[in-house]
Amino acid sequence: MSDPTETYRPGLEGVIATETAVSFLDLDTEQIVIRGYDLIELAREVRYPIVAFLLMHGELPTDAERTAFDERVRRDASLPPGMETVLRSLPPATDAMDALRTGLSALAGFEDPAVLADTSHAANLDKATRILARAPVVAANGYRALRSLDLVEPDPRLGFVANFLHLLPGPRVDETTVAVFDRILTCYSEHELANSTLTARVVASTLADIYGAVVAATASLKGPLHGGANEAAARMFAEIAERGGSSTAESYVLDKLARKERIMGFGHRVYMHRPDPRAVLLGEDLPVLAERRPGGGDLVRSYEICAATMEREKGLYPNTDLPIGLLMYLLEIPIDLYTPVFLCARIAGLVAHVLEQHDDNRLYRPRVLYTGPRDKHP
Ligand code: COA
Repeated sequence: MSDPTETYRPGLEGVIATETAVSFLDLDTEQIVIRGYDLIELAREVRYPIVAFLLMHGELPTDAERTAFDERVRRDASLPPGMETVLRSLPPATDAMDALRTGLSALAGFEDPAVLADTSHAANLDKATRILARAPVVAANGYRALRSLDLVEPDPRLGFVANFLHLLPGPRVDETTVAVFDRILTCYSEHELANSTLTARVVASTLADIYGAVVAATASLKGPLHGGANEAAARMFAEIAERGGSSTAESYVLDKLARKERIMGFGHRVYMHRPDPRAVLLGEDLPVLAERRPGGGDLVRSYEICAATMEREKGLYPNTDLPIGLLMYLLEIPIDLYTPVFLCARIAGLVAHVLEQHDDNRLYRPRVLYTGPRDKHP
Protein backbone atom coordinates (compact mmCIF):
# COMPACT_ATOMS: atom_id res chain seq x y z
CA MET A 1 0.00 0.00 0.00
CA SER A 2 1.25 3.52 -0.80
CA ASP A 3 2.46 5.75 2.04
CA PRO A 4 -0.71 7.61 3.26
CA THR A 5 1.34 10.66 4.25
CA GLU A 6 2.03 11.21 0.54
CA THR A 7 -1.64 11.62 -0.36
CA TYR A 8 -2.91 13.26 2.83
CA ARG A 9 -3.87 16.93 2.29
CA PRO A 10 -5.20 18.68 5.42
CA GLY A 11 -8.52 20.30 4.55
CA LEU A 12 -8.41 18.37 1.23
CA GLU A 13 -6.52 21.39 -0.13
CA GLY A 14 -5.89 21.01 -3.85
CA VAL A 15 -7.51 17.55 -3.95
CA ILE A 16 -9.67 16.77 -6.99
CA ALA A 17 -12.69 15.20 -5.25
CA THR A 18 -15.18 14.87 -8.10
CA GLU A 19 -15.79 15.31 -11.81
CA THR A 20 -18.36 17.97 -12.56
CA ALA A 21 -19.83 19.85 -15.50
CA VAL A 22 -21.48 22.42 -13.21
CA SER A 23 -18.68 24.90 -12.52
CA PHE A 24 -14.94 25.46 -12.22
CA LEU A 25 -12.68 28.15 -10.77
CA ASP A 26 -10.18 28.72 -13.57
CA LEU A 27 -7.28 30.49 -11.90
CA ASP A 28 -5.38 30.87 -15.18
CA THR A 29 -8.10 32.91 -16.89
CA GLU A 30 -9.46 34.25 -13.55
CA GLN A 31 -12.91 33.04 -14.54
CA ILE A 32 -15.62 31.35 -12.53
CA VAL A 33 -16.92 29.04 -15.25
CA ILE A 34 -20.61 28.18 -14.85
CA ARG A 35 -21.80 25.60 -17.37
CA GLY A 36 -19.41 27.17 -19.90
CA TYR A 37 -20.28 30.81 -19.11
CA ASP A 38 -18.33 33.32 -17.04
CA LEU A 39 -20.19 34.01 -13.79
CA ILE A 40 -19.27 37.69 -13.85
CA GLU A 41 -20.64 38.08 -17.38
CA LEU A 42 -23.81 36.27 -16.31
CA ALA A 43 -24.14 38.61 -13.31
CA ARG A 44 -23.80 41.64 -15.58
CA GLU A 45 -25.96 40.41 -18.46
CA VAL A 46 -28.77 38.15 -17.23
CA ARG A 47 -31.06 37.88 -14.24
CA TYR A 48 -30.69 35.40 -11.37
CA PRO A 49 -33.62 33.10 -12.32
CA ILE A 50 -31.95 32.53 -15.70
CA VAL A 51 -28.70 31.60 -13.95
CA ALA A 52 -30.66 29.25 -11.66
CA PHE A 53 -32.26 27.62 -14.71
CA LEU A 54 -28.85 27.31 -16.37
CA LEU A 55 -27.40 25.61 -13.31
CA MET A 56 -30.31 23.23 -12.86
CA HIS A 57 -30.98 22.39 -16.52
CA GLY A 58 -27.49 22.73 -17.99
CA GLU A 59 -28.39 25.26 -20.71
CA LEU A 60 -29.77 28.78 -20.82
CA PRO A 61 -33.56 28.77 -21.20
CA THR A 62 -35.42 29.58 -24.40
CA ASP A 63 -38.02 32.34 -23.98
CA ALA A 64 -40.77 29.72 -23.58
CA GLU A 65 -38.71 27.75 -21.02
CA ARG A 66 -37.98 30.91 -19.13
CA THR A 67 -41.65 31.85 -18.91
CA ALA A 68 -42.59 28.33 -17.82
CA PHE A 69 -39.80 28.30 -15.19
CA ASP A 70 -40.82 31.70 -13.78
CA GLU A 71 -44.43 30.53 -13.64
CA ARG A 72 -43.51 27.26 -11.95
CA VAL A 73 -41.33 28.96 -9.32
CA ARG A 74 -44.10 31.48 -8.65
CA ARG A 75 -46.73 28.72 -8.29
CA ASP A 76 -44.55 26.61 -5.98
CA ALA A 77 -43.47 29.43 -3.66
CA SER A 78 -46.31 29.22 -1.12
CA LEU A 79 -45.54 27.01 1.86
CA PRO A 80 -47.73 24.08 2.89
CA PRO A 81 -50.08 25.28 5.70
CA GLY A 82 -48.39 23.11 8.36
CA MET A 83 -45.15 25.05 7.95
CA GLU A 84 -46.34 27.99 10.04
CA THR A 85 -46.75 25.67 13.04
CA VAL A 86 -43.25 24.29 12.48
CA LEU A 87 -41.65 27.74 12.30
CA ARG A 88 -43.64 29.18 15.20
CA SER A 89 -42.73 26.25 17.46
CA LEU A 90 -39.02 27.14 17.40
CA PRO A 91 -37.57 28.78 20.55
CA PRO A 92 -37.22 32.56 19.98
CA ALA A 93 -33.45 32.44 20.48
CA THR A 94 -33.06 30.14 17.46
CA ASP A 95 -30.64 31.50 14.88
CA ALA A 96 -32.29 32.45 11.58
CA MET A 97 -30.01 30.06 9.71
CA ASP A 98 -31.03 27.21 12.02
CA ALA A 99 -34.69 28.09 11.47
CA LEU A 100 -34.07 27.86 7.72
CA ARG A 101 -32.29 24.54 8.12
CA THR A 102 -35.16 23.18 10.23
CA GLY A 103 -37.77 24.57 7.82
CA LEU A 104 -36.10 23.00 4.78
CA SER A 105 -35.91 19.70 6.64
CA ALA A 106 -39.59 19.93 7.56
CA LEU A 107 -40.52 20.61 3.93
CA ALA A 108 -39.29 17.11 3.06
CA GLY A 109 -42.14 15.75 5.16
CA PHE A 110 -44.66 17.44 2.88
CA GLU A 111 -43.41 15.44 -0.12
CA ASP A 112 -45.02 12.14 -1.03
CA PRO A 113 -42.64 9.52 0.48
CA ALA A 114 -42.19 7.76 -2.86
CA VAL A 115 -41.40 11.07 -4.60
CA LEU A 116 -39.01 12.01 -1.78
CA ALA A 117 -37.07 8.75 -2.11
CA ASP A 118 -36.95 8.88 -5.93
CA THR A 119 -33.42 9.93 -6.97
CA SER A 120 -34.11 9.86 -10.74
CA HIS A 121 -33.17 13.01 -12.66
CA ALA A 122 -36.79 14.00 -13.38
CA ALA A 123 -37.94 13.52 -9.78
CA ASN A 124 -34.89 15.35 -8.42
CA LEU A 125 -35.37 18.29 -10.79
CA ASP A 126 -39.00 18.56 -9.76
CA LYS A 127 -38.13 18.66 -6.05
CA ALA A 128 -35.17 20.96 -6.72
CA THR A 129 -37.46 23.54 -8.32
CA ARG A 130 -39.79 23.40 -5.31
CA ILE A 131 -36.88 23.86 -2.91
CA LEU A 132 -35.58 26.85 -4.91
CA ALA A 133 -39.04 28.46 -4.93
CA ARG A 134 -39.73 27.91 -1.23
CA ALA A 135 -36.35 28.54 0.40
CA PRO A 136 -36.71 32.38 0.48
CA VAL A 137 -40.20 32.05 1.97
CA VAL A 138 -38.89 29.72 4.67
CA ALA A 139 -35.90 31.99 5.36
CA ALA A 140 -37.94 35.20 5.66
CA ASN A 141 -40.87 33.67 7.52
CA GLY A 142 -38.59 31.69 9.83
CA TYR A 143 -36.99 35.00 10.83
CA ARG A 144 -40.44 36.58 11.27
CA ALA A 145 -41.84 33.66 13.30
CA LEU A 146 -38.92 33.85 15.75
CA ARG A 147 -39.85 37.49 16.39
CA SER A 148 -43.60 36.80 16.65
CA LEU A 149 -44.21 38.89 13.53
CA ASP A 150 -46.94 38.13 10.98
CA LEU A 151 -45.78 35.82 8.25
CA VAL A 152 -45.74 37.18 4.69
CA GLU A 153 -47.14 35.44 1.62
CA PRO A 154 -45.21 35.55 -1.65
CA ASP A 155 -46.68 38.09 -4.07
CA PRO A 156 -47.72 36.27 -7.29
CA ARG A 157 -47.29 39.50 -9.31
CA LEU A 158 -43.57 39.70 -8.57
CA GLY A 159 -40.61 37.88 -10.10
CA PHE A 160 -38.30 35.75 -7.95
CA VAL A 161 -35.85 38.49 -6.95
CA ALA A 162 -38.43 41.22 -6.23
CA ASN A 163 -40.48 38.67 -4.33
CA PHE A 164 -37.49 37.67 -2.20
CA LEU A 165 -37.00 41.35 -1.29
CA HIS A 166 -40.74 41.77 -0.63
CA LEU A 167 -40.55 38.88 1.90
CA LEU A 168 -37.56 40.33 3.77
CA PRO A 169 -38.20 42.90 6.50
CA GLY A 170 -36.37 46.15 5.82
CA PRO A 171 -35.31 46.85 2.27
CA ARG A 172 -36.97 49.48 0.08
CA VAL A 173 -37.91 47.61 -3.10
CA ASP A 174 -37.11 49.67 -6.16
CA GLU A 175 -35.30 49.13 -9.45
CA THR A 176 -31.81 49.71 -8.03
CA THR A 177 -32.39 47.41 -5.06
CA VAL A 178 -33.68 44.62 -7.30
CA ALA A 179 -30.72 44.99 -9.69
CA VAL A 180 -28.12 44.90 -6.88
CA PHE A 181 -29.86 42.07 -5.03
CA ASP A 182 -30.07 40.12 -8.30
CA ARG A 183 -26.30 40.44 -8.75
CA ILE A 184 -25.76 39.35 -5.13
CA LEU A 185 -27.87 36.23 -5.72
CA THR A 186 -26.02 35.40 -8.95
CA CYS A 187 -22.61 35.86 -7.30
CA TYR A 188 -23.74 33.45 -4.55
CA SER A 189 -25.44 30.98 -6.92
CA GLU A 190 -22.56 28.55 -7.43
CA HIS A 191 -18.85 28.30 -6.67
CA GLU A 192 -17.44 24.89 -7.54
CA LEU A 193 -16.66 22.61 -4.59
CA ALA A 194 -17.22 24.94 -1.63
CA ASN A 195 -17.49 23.11 1.69
CA SER A 196 -21.32 23.13 1.59
CA THR A 197 -21.33 21.77 -1.97
CA LEU A 198 -18.95 18.98 -1.06
CA THR A 199 -21.21 18.27 1.95
CA ALA A 200 -24.28 18.05 -0.30
CA ARG A 201 -22.49 15.67 -2.68
CA VAL A 202 -21.17 13.48 0.15
CA VAL A 203 -24.66 13.15 1.64
CA ALA A 204 -26.26 12.57 -1.77
CA SER A 205 -23.70 9.84 -2.51
CA THR A 206 -25.38 7.60 0.09
CA LEU A 207 -28.52 7.98 -2.09
CA ALA A 208 -30.04 10.10 0.67
CA ASP A 209 -32.74 12.37 -0.76
CA ILE A 210 -32.13 15.86 -2.14
CA TYR A 211 -33.66 17.55 0.94
CA GLY A 212 -31.18 15.74 3.20
CA ALA A 213 -28.31 16.90 1.02
CA VAL A 214 -29.52 20.53 1.03
CA VAL A 215 -30.16 20.51 4.79
CA ALA A 216 -26.63 19.21 5.44
CA ALA A 217 -25.24 21.87 3.12
CA THR A 218 -27.19 24.49 5.08
CA ALA A 219 -25.46 23.38 8.29
CA SER A 220 -22.09 23.67 6.55
CA LEU A 221 -22.82 27.08 5.08
CA LYS A 222 -23.66 28.55 8.49
CA GLY A 223 -20.05 28.36 9.68
CA PRO A 224 -18.15 31.65 10.05
CA LEU A 225 -15.35 30.35 7.82
CA HIS A 226 -17.93 29.85 5.04
CA GLY A 227 -21.29 31.62 4.54
CA GLY A 228 -21.38 33.08 8.02
CA ALA A 229 -18.59 35.46 6.99
CA ASN A 230 -21.06 37.91 5.39
CA GLU A 231 -22.78 38.56 8.74
CA ALA A 232 -19.42 38.91 10.49
CA ALA A 233 -18.30 41.40 7.82
CA ALA A 234 -21.43 43.55 8.27
CA ARG A 235 -20.99 43.51 12.06
CA MET A 236 -17.39 44.61 11.62
CA PHE A 237 -18.44 47.66 9.56
CA ALA A 238 -21.16 48.50 12.10
CA GLU A 239 -18.57 48.25 14.89
CA ILE A 240 -16.09 50.49 13.05
CA ALA A 241 -18.88 53.05 12.54
CA GLU A 242 -19.73 52.97 16.25
CA ARG A 243 -16.08 53.39 17.27
CA GLY A 244 -15.59 56.52 15.22
CA GLY A 245 -15.96 55.64 11.56
CA SER A 246 -13.53 55.33 8.68
CA SER A 247 -10.76 57.31 10.39
CA THR A 248 -10.44 54.35 12.80
CA ALA A 249 -10.74 51.58 10.17
CA GLU A 250 -7.02 51.10 9.61
CA SER A 251 -6.19 50.83 13.33
CA TYR A 252 -9.18 48.48 13.78
CA VAL A 253 -7.65 46.08 11.23
CA LEU A 254 -4.11 46.46 12.55
CA ASP A 255 -5.24 45.79 16.13
CA LYS A 256 -7.03 42.64 15.06
CA LEU A 257 -4.05 41.41 13.10
CA ALA A 258 -1.75 42.15 16.04
CA ARG A 259 -4.01 39.93 18.17
CA LYS A 260 -3.76 37.24 15.43
CA GLU A 261 -7.49 37.43 14.85
CA ARG A 262 -9.07 36.66 11.48
CA ILE A 263 -10.90 39.37 9.65
CA MET A 264 -13.99 37.86 8.13
CA GLY A 265 -14.60 38.56 4.46
CA PHE A 266 -10.89 38.31 3.54
CA GLY A 267 -8.96 35.37 2.14
CA HIS A 268 -10.14 32.31 0.29
CA ARG A 269 -8.89 28.73 0.10
CA VAL A 270 -8.70 28.80 -3.71
CA TYR A 271 -7.98 32.48 -4.47
CA MET A 272 -5.99 33.17 -1.29
CA HIS A 273 -3.60 35.89 -2.58
CA ARG A 274 -5.64 36.92 -5.64
CA PRO A 275 -8.75 39.08 -5.88
CA ASP A 276 -12.10 37.22 -5.87
CA PRO A 277 -13.77 38.31 -9.16
CA ARG A 278 -17.19 38.42 -7.46
CA ALA A 279 -15.91 40.86 -4.85
CA VAL A 280 -14.44 43.05 -7.59
CA LEU A 281 -17.79 43.14 -9.41
CA LEU A 282 -19.92 43.78 -6.33
CA GLY A 283 -17.52 46.41 -5.03
CA GLU A 284 -18.78 48.54 -7.94
CA ASP A 285 -22.25 48.61 -6.36
CA LEU A 286 -21.10 49.97 -3.01
CA PRO A 287 -20.95 53.67 -4.01
CA VAL A 288 -24.36 53.25 -5.70
CA LEU A 289 -25.94 52.25 -2.39
CA ALA A 290 -23.93 54.58 -0.16
CA GLU A 291 -26.76 57.11 0.10
CA ARG A 292 -29.28 54.47 1.21
CA ARG A 293 -28.28 54.48 4.85
CA PRO A 294 -27.20 57.34 7.11
CA GLY A 295 -23.41 57.25 7.27
CA GLY A 296 -23.31 55.01 4.17
CA GLY A 297 -20.56 57.01 2.48
CA ASP A 298 -18.30 56.58 5.49
CA LEU A 299 -19.08 52.85 5.65
CA VAL A 300 -17.94 52.52 2.03
CA ARG A 301 -14.79 54.48 2.91
CA SER A 302 -14.16 52.02 5.78
CA TYR A 303 -14.53 49.17 3.30
CA GLU A 304 -11.86 50.68 1.07
CA ILE A 305 -9.50 51.31 3.98
CA CYS A 306 -9.95 47.78 5.39
CA ALA A 307 -9.30 46.30 1.93
CA ALA A 308 -6.19 48.43 1.35
CA THR A 309 -4.83 47.62 4.83
CA MET A 310 -5.36 43.86 4.43
CA GLU A 311 -3.73 43.88 1.01
CA ARG A 312 -0.72 45.81 2.34
CA GLU A 313 -0.33 43.84 5.58
CA LYS A 314 -1.27 40.29 4.57
CA GLY A 315 -1.55 40.22 0.78
CA LEU A 316 -5.20 39.20 1.26
CA TYR A 317 -8.14 40.48 -0.79
CA PRO A 318 -11.86 40.75 -0.02
CA ASN A 319 -13.84 37.63 -0.81
CA THR A 320 -17.44 37.97 -1.97
CA ASP A 321 -18.79 38.07 1.60
CA LEU A 322 -17.15 41.43 2.34
CA PRO A 323 -18.99 43.56 -0.26
CA ILE A 324 -22.18 41.50 0.10
CA GLY A 325 -22.19 41.96 3.88
CA LEU A 326 -21.93 45.71 3.41
CA LEU A 327 -24.36 45.88 0.45
CA MET A 328 -27.07 44.09 2.41
CA TYR A 329 -26.36 46.34 5.40
CA LEU A 330 -26.76 49.42 3.18
CA LEU A 331 -30.04 47.92 1.91
CA GLU A 332 -31.17 47.72 5.56
CA ILE A 333 -31.72 43.97 5.48
CA PRO A 334 -31.40 42.57 9.05
CA ILE A 335 -27.92 41.07 9.53
CA ASP A 336 -29.24 37.73 10.83
CA LEU A 337 -30.66 37.08 7.36
CA TYR A 338 -27.45 37.44 5.33
CA THR A 339 -26.34 33.81 5.58
CA PRO A 340 -29.91 32.56 4.92
CA VAL A 341 -29.94 34.78 1.78
CA PHE A 342 -26.63 33.19 0.72
CA LEU A 343 -28.08 29.70 1.18
CA CYS A 344 -31.24 30.53 -0.79
CA ALA A 345 -29.13 31.82 -3.68
CA ARG A 346 -26.80 28.79 -3.49
CA ILE A 347 -29.75 26.32 -3.70
CA ALA A 348 -29.47 26.51 -7.51
CA GLY A 349 -25.86 25.34 -7.44
CA LEU A 350 -26.36 22.82 -4.65
CA VAL A 351 -29.23 21.03 -6.38
CA ALA A 352 -27.29 21.02 -9.67
CA HIS A 353 -24.53 19.10 -7.87
CA VAL A 354 -27.00 16.72 -6.19
CA LEU A 355 -28.59 15.98 -9.58
CA GLU A 356 -25.16 15.28 -11.04
CA GLN A 357 -24.17 13.09 -8.08
CA HIS A 358 -27.35 11.02 -8.23
CA ASP A 359 -27.14 10.70 -12.02
CA ASP A 360 -23.72 9.05 -11.82
CA ASN A 361 -23.19 8.03 -8.24
CA ARG A 362 -20.27 6.60 -6.38
CA LEU A 363 -20.31 6.57 -2.57
CA TYR A 364 -17.79 8.95 -0.95
CA ARG A 365 -15.74 6.91 1.50
CA PRO A 366 -12.13 8.07 1.91
CA ARG A 367 -9.51 6.71 4.35
CA VAL A 368 -7.59 8.19 7.30
CA LEU A 369 -4.07 8.81 8.47
CA TYR A 370 -4.40 7.17 11.89
CA THR A 371 -2.59 9.01 14.70
CA GLY A 372 -4.15 7.25 17.71
CA PRO A 373 -2.66 4.54 19.92
CA ARG A 374 -2.45 0.83 19.01
CA ASP A 375 -2.38 -2.47 20.86
CA LYS A 376 -4.26 -1.35 23.97
CA HIS A 377 -6.39 -3.91 25.85
CA PRO A 378 -9.49 -3.42 28.03
N1 COA B 1 -7.75 37.34 8.33
C1 COA B 1 -6.50 37.27 8.80
N2 COA B 1 -5.62 36.34 8.41
C2 COA B 1 -6.01 35.47 7.48
C3 COA B 1 -7.28 35.49 6.95
C4 COA B 1 -8.17 36.47 7.39
N3 COA B 1 -9.40 36.56 6.92
N4 COA B 1 -7.40 34.50 6.05
C5 COA B 1 -6.24 33.87 6.03
N5 COA B 1 -5.40 34.45 6.89
C6 COA B 1 -4.02 34.07 7.15
C7 COA B 1 -3.94 33.01 8.25
O1 COA B 1 -3.88 33.58 9.53
C8 COA B 1 -2.67 32.32 7.87
O2 COA B 1 -1.58 33.14 8.23
P1 COA B 1 -0.25 32.50 8.83
O3 COA B 1 0.30 31.63 7.73
O4 COA B 1 0.60 33.69 9.16
O5 COA B 1 -0.70 31.71 10.01
C9 COA B 1 -2.72 32.31 6.34
O6 COA B 1 -3.51 33.44 5.99
C10 COA B 1 -3.34 31.04 5.77
O7 COA B 1 -4.59 30.80 6.39
P2 COA B 1 -5.30 29.36 6.42
O8 COA B 1 -6.42 29.39 7.40
O9 COA B 1 -4.29 28.26 6.58
O10 COA B 1 -5.83 29.24 4.94
P3 COA B 1 -7.15 28.53 4.48
O11 COA B 1 -6.98 28.22 3.07
O12 COA B 1 -7.53 27.41 5.38
O13 COA B 1 -8.19 29.72 4.73
C11 COA B 1 -10.24 30.78 4.79
C12 COA B 1 -9.24 30.05 3.91
C13 COA B 1 -11.40 31.25 3.93
C14 COA B 1 -10.78 29.82 5.87
C15 COA B 1 -9.55 31.99 5.48
O14 COA B 1 -9.04 32.89 4.51
C16 COA B 1 -10.47 32.70 6.46
O15 COA B 1 -10.59 32.26 7.61
N6 COA B 1 -11.13 33.80 6.02
C17 COA B 1 -12.07 34.49 6.84
C18 COA B 1 -13.44 33.81 6.74
C19 COA B 1 -14.11 34.12 5.42
O16 COA B 1 -14.17 35.24 4.98
N7 COA B 1 -14.70 33.06 4.87
C20 COA B 1 -15.44 33.18 3.61
C21 COA B 1 -14.69 32.49 2.51
S1 COA B 1 -15.51 32.78 0.95
